[in-house]
Amino acid sequence: MSYFITFEGPEGSGKSTVIKHVHEALSKTCPVITTREPGGIAISEKIRDLLLDEGNVMDGRTEALLFAASRRQHLVERVIPALNEKKIVLCDRFVDSSLAYQGMAREIGFDEVMSINQFAIDNHMPDLTIYLKLAPEVGLRRISDNRRENNRLDQETIDFHKKVVSGYNELSMLYPERIKVVDASQSVEKVVSDTLTIIEEYINFRGEYL
Ligand code: TMP
Repeated sequence: MSYFITFEGPEGSGKSTVIKHVHEALSKTCPVITTREPGGIAISEKIRDLLLDEGNVMDGRTEALLFAASRRQHLVERVIPALNEKKIVLCDRFVDSSLAYQGMAREIGFDEVMSINQFAIDNHMPDLTIYLKLAPEVGLRRISDNRRENNRLDQETIDFHKKVVSGYNELSMLYPERIKVVDASQSVEKVVSDTLTIIEEYINFRGEYL
């Protein structure tokens, strides 16, 4: 059995740190790969550069289409082959990012953004999604304190980032079976242990590996 697990949340919610710890823990008992969107493979990293370049002024629908194009190539080249090899795929962002950022915050609409993504993902939805929930003010403060790379989307207004969080909150209510919420304002140790509990329960329930 293979598992496609995605991690979602606003800027500064700690996805990459949590994924690193989850990867370490799961890889003791099962084959795991970690990847990210937009990016993860050469073509998608090039699209990422276009998308995140602060010098680009981009139409919202162009942005949504580029994220979907990057997603398609990454899915075909990286995710599907790993799932076919019965691996657990941990992916930093996937379609819910497009729904929250482009659908809600750019105000294109969930349905419109989902329709171009249906074409891109061809029904390959994640088995499980961990949503690291955090107030946008806290996340943005964290990234400015840590001097992490600042990109075109980080530069958006606080209202934009509030809409991203409302988008995620709405998605977690629409798809409670798939999207599990973790309070990302807690210590890293607690966020990681809450996340691992959810993943291990899910995998045990499906009856493999652990
Ligand atoms: P990252 O900061 O997690 O590396 O993601 C890059 C930025 O791209 C982040 O601001 C979220 C944004 N993004 C979207 O707007 N839509 C998407 O579909 C994805 C995958 C990311």
